[in-house]
Amino acid sequence: MKPTVYVINGPNLNLLGTREPDKYGRATLADVETLCREAGDRHGFAIAFLQSNHEGELVSWIQEAGRAGAAGIVLNAAAYTHTSVAILDAIAATAVPVIEVHLTNIHAREPFRRTSYVSQVAKGVICGLGPQGYGLAIAGLAGLAGQGSRT
Ligand code: DQA
Repeated sequence: MKPTVYVINGPNLNLLGTREPDKYGRATLADVETLCREAGDRHGFAIAFLQSNHEGELVSWIQEAGRAGAAGIVLNAAAYTHTSVAILDAIAATAVPVIEVHLTNIHAREPFRRTSYVSQVAKGVICGLGPQGYGLAIAGLAGLAGQGSRT
């Protein structure tokens, strides 16, 4: 069985394609899923692709990835990035490496977006590259797995 990468998307990302396209582009979440599955195929990963508008559900999926022994988590926690101690704690509690992804460069936007609770416990961070950031994160997890590093 292939190792699994969980790709977890937070609130409002279900609206990609129509949501503020000047910032987030025209690609839909389904397009992002296709990109992730193609990257998964290239790197030998099964992909669990998930989206929720609810903080607790994101926490539960991070815990589930840990229980399942996932190879990694690609996490775009969206607005919860900037507010959620619960997500920080869930990441801190798992041995699964987390790559934080944002479509936009959160450091070049409003000041409140410069604080990321996720960054404090993430293995790596990719932001500002649009949907391709997800593919790069999956490639990064493959590199980490090749090094035998899960933390
Ligand atoms: C986002 C950036 C967040 O600040 C914002 O709340 C989002 C999307 C991004 O992918 O650029 O919903 O995570």
